[in-house]
Amino acid sequence: MKTENKISVFGLGKLGCTMLACFAHKGSSVVGVDINETSVSKINSKTSPIYEPGVDELIKKNADRIRATTDAADAVMNSEASFIIVPTPSEENGSFNTKAVESVAKAIGAALKNKSDYHLIIVTSTVLPGDTARVVKILEETSGKKCNVDFGVCYNPDFIALGSIVKDFLNPDMVLIGESDKKAGDVLDEIHLRLVDNKPSINRMTFENAELTKIALNSYCTLKITFANVLADICEKFPGGNVNVVSQALGFDTRIGHRYLKGGLSYGGPCFPRDNKAFAWTASKLGVSHSLASKTDEVNNFHRDTRIPSKLLAILKEKNAKSISVLGLTYKADTTLVEESAAISVVRSLAKENIRIHVYDPAGMTEGKTALSGLKNVSFKDTAKDCIQGTDLCFVASPWKEFKTLTKEDFKSAMKTPVIFDAWSLYDFESEKDIDYRQIGKYNGK
Ligand SMILES: NC(=O)c1ccc[n+]([C@@H]2O[C@H](COP(=O)([O-])OP(=O)(O)OC[C@H]3O[C@@H](n4cnc5c(N)ncnc54)[C@H](O)[C@@H]3O)[C@@H](O)[C@H]2O)c1
Repeated sequence: MKTENKISVFGLGKLGCTMLACFAHKGSSVVGVDINETSVSKINSKTSPIYEPGVDELIKKNADRIRATTDAADAVMNSEASFIIVPTPSEENGSFNTKAVESVAKAIGAALKNKSDYHLIIVTSTVLPGDTARVVKILEETSGKKCNVDFGVCYNPDFIALGSIVKDFLNPDMVLIGESDKKAGDVLDEIHLRLVDNKPSINRMTFENAELTKIALNSYCTLKITFANVLADICEKFPGGNVNVVSQALGFDTRIGHRYLKGGLSYGGPCFPRDNKAFAWTASKLGVSHSLASKTDEVNNFHRDTRIPSKLLAILKEKNAKSISVLGLTYKADTTLVEESAAISVVRSLAKENIRIHVYDPAGMTEGKTALSGLKNVSFKDTAKDCIQGTDLCFVASPWKEFKTLTKEDFKSAMKTPVIFDAWSLYDFESEKDIDYRQIGKYNGK
């Protein structure tokens, strides 16, 4: 079935808004829907409601093909396919709360009552095995119509990273499609072919297998990151060890690969920790061993809450020093988010000690201030140079490009005797006599 290229996107957050911008960029007419009127009016005034590199530019450039509304029926009537990209927050036990997805499904179902043409509904929010089938039931109940006759449904999660969502959308490694029937999958396949710049592997399957694939993939990534962090700890303690050398060689084995295999800080953010917990929850609900995923979570938290703070405090003790600068607060570079950020946890642990802490982040200062509010020994600085100024030890917590521009002279003039503990191997200061430069995962004899 050839579509006319009219799409609606329900949920104009980090993911939905970026998808809307990318669809319009590739020639689709897009209607965005959100319950948040501010987001809707921002889109209608050609401005992105979220921070994500490239999105604001794409919205401005393609404004003639983009509009937003709070009216679900308007969006359904004026599009052929509706993507649902609303929050599915984690519950205490690791499962996801799907109330927002269900509420959107009800609104779409009500609108479908008055629509005679075929419509495709795509769940892109991260959901658990069994949830998409529930969405089908809601759509049938509220519309009085039949799935695979009057409408089709797909589960189509995205594998993108905040900070590079536009690039990841347009160049995915693979596209995952859980389909209610062949026609539904064909329509979505066609939408993806228009969207991508590369030739990804398109994987079509049942809802259930797609739902399992989504959480399995993220759970596997957390396992790989955690393995690299344990390897970094081993290398740091073994004379001559260097995780960068070992992981580089490991990555050349095609069974392993290089991505997510660099020793660094613990994983965090809005996806990895919760998808891994959801994987563990799914396993335990089915009576399957969940210890691999649960242990990954435990080891990740140990690195964040114990290993790294102890390491930094040991360096301060060794130097008889009392102050530290922390460069980077967000859970990774190129985002404003501090949700489950390892850097924030490290600062919280350090703040329990009688030391002075300077912090700075290129984009996440507002969020960082909220997350660290009430900690009396933490000072928020306006620039990276202000942050390192007058401190004894500098901890490089995220690999922002801006930090890489700091020169050895910057460190020497800002710090009495510069000591740097770098979680991302940003600098080549190893042969510098006047800088004590240490890297995560590299033995330095102390
Ligand atoms: N952000 C990511 O990197 C990422 C990656 C993969 C998957 N996901 C998944 O995508 C989903 C959305 O994530 P996000 O980060 O874009 O969330 P977000 O919190 O940034 O945005 C969600 C948007 O949905 C809107 N919304 C809430 N209820 C609504 C309703 N009933 N009708 C219309 N709009 C509604 C909110 O106002 C908000 O604008 C989640 O399930 C998340 O797990 C996100």
